[in-house]
Amino acid sequence: MSFDFTTAPDRRGTGSLKWDKYAGTDILPLWVADMDFLSPPCVREALARRVAHGVFGYTQPRAETIEATLAWLRDRHGATAEADWLVWFPGLVPALNVICRAFGASGDEAIALTPVYPPFLTAPAFSNLKGVSVPLALEGDRWRVDPVRLEAAFTPRTRLLIFCNPHNPIGRVFSEAEVAEVAELCARHGALFCSDEIHADLTFGPSRHFCALRMSGAAAARAITLMAPSKTFNTPGLACAFAVIPDPGIRRTVREAARGIITEINAMGYVACEAAFRDGEPWRQALLDTLRGNRDFLYEFTAREMPELRLRPMEATYLAWLDARGLDLEDPVGFFEKGGVGLFDGKLFGPGGEGFLRLNFGCPRPRLEEALRRMKTALDRR
Ligand SMILES: Cc1ncc(COP(=O)(O)O)c(C=O)c1O
Repeated sequence: MSFDFTTAPDRRGTGSLKWDKYAGTDILPLWVADMDFLSPPCVREALARRVAHGVFGYTQPRAETIEATLAWLRDRHGATAEADWLVWFPGLVPALNVICRAFGASGDEAIALTPVYPPFLTAPAFSNLKGVSVPLALEGDRWRVDPVRLEAAFTPRTRLLIFCNPHNPIGRVFSEAEVAEVAELCARHGALFCSDEIHADLTFGPSRHFCALRMSGAAAARAITLMAPSKTFNTPGLACAFAVIPDPGIRRTVREAARGIITEINAMGYVACEAAFRDGEPWRQALLDTLRGNRDFLYEFTAREMPELRLRPMEATYLAWLDARGLDLEDPVGFFEKGGVGLFDGKLFGPGGEGFLRLNFGCPRPRLEEALRRMKTALDRR
């Protein structure tokens, strides 16, 4: 089956966060994490059928949606979950915030491994928790968790650790041993292990993603796994995500913290989720081929044409973490915006992010080529 990843839909005028930031300019937006691809045909067709029905009342997940989700967890991730372990959210950012609110009181602490997706740093603060950043270590060209530094970060007030696997922005897929090591440290210190796996279906291989739901013992009992179809199938605007929480007590605490804040979520989100998980695998495989091609092009182009921007091996996501420290630019984002490309500023990703830029390569190749040409021209003119 062939799918179209070459047409670049014009997203201007659709209220797109990514494109509206630069409305009225000639800046190509490669910042926020959604893709400039159409969603899979199976998703668009299911949504069209639902729209044709014409009634959009308060909606719960249908049994079929839950079945498709549990089957995806089982078949793709080798994880067994039960229907009532699923807690639905309009996004993983609200889920992170509810979890911080549920498990921490003012002055308690939440650990994140940095650089990391910025809401991992803001969610604790919004609930008056102290965010504790533990920088990831760079060993040669590979980022890894530093267990000694991590262990030292736990205090009697540590309530949770928010883990990102695959990790946005460094693109690592942590191994089973690495996941187990972090989760066991959490268990030993009585902290919750909260694993955000929104990028789990965007791995390039050969490393295989290890879903936290596959853990056993004490570490598994105090774990929450966060997932969503939205990054993979390009549906974040449909606001549908879920937490998988095996422990009934933890589940109850999360549901109570969400009461009155998270109500029924988007009817269209459930439709897209079900269709994507049930019928979207061939499209996902084709997407991965396209993204692998873009990633390899990005590797080659930066190495050949812009060696002052360092790119380390990426195992997952369509988000490249460019090391621009060698350029010694005061305002790297402003510099490339002047050159016609909108990137995400690494310093927003916490300690260790200063001097880096995040580039979203989830777009048709000609758009990526144009953006990289513009970046090279800006650097050549410097
Ligand atoms: C690690 C991670 N978690 C959560 C999100 C956003 O989740 P949502 O759109 O479901 O709130 C992103 C978006 O890029 C992400 O990278």
